[in-house]
Amino acid sequence: MATQRTLSIIKPDATRRNLTGAINKRFEEAGLAIVAQRRVRLTDAQARAFYAVHRERAFYDDLCAFMTSGPVVVQVLEGENAVEANRTIMGATNPANADAGTIRKDFGESVEANSVHGSDSPENAAIEIAFFFAETDIVG
Ligand code: CMP
Repeated sequence: MATQRTLSIIKPDATRRNLTGAINKRFEEAGLAIVAQRRVRLTDAQARAFYAVHRERAFYDDLCAFMTSGPVVVQVLEGENAVEANRTIMGATNPANADAGTIRKDFGESVEANSVHGSDSPENAAIEIAFFFAETDIVG
């Protein structure tokens, strides 16, 4: 499997608890490099556009309100099989179902406040990375 990139977001529940460094340590210890990173406060329009794929879901409005409730850290992770590797490091969407030792098990508060987002496929990773970063922002 070749080197890949994936989009990661450290969510407001995690920035609120000052967990950015602890979460980044998990990525780096697992062999993923943080090749772009920016701390931002998403606007309502940005959150709605980023999560547009979920717009018919009952949780969409709450999800967008949560994602704009505090700072997030958007980042590009790079490494071998990065999309799947990051999904393993994050654990299941619902922290209650996540494996021991994963970010969501150790830090997640609920299915909504689950500390991190990660792209679910290489195709979506490319779309999500382009949503936040220009190619020149990414230094591998
Ligand atoms: P994320 O990987 O950011 O992608 C969509 C998010 O919706 C997901 O993580 C969850 O945090 C959030 N979400 C909130 N409620 C639900 C739910 N009932 N089922 C799935 N995802 C949910």
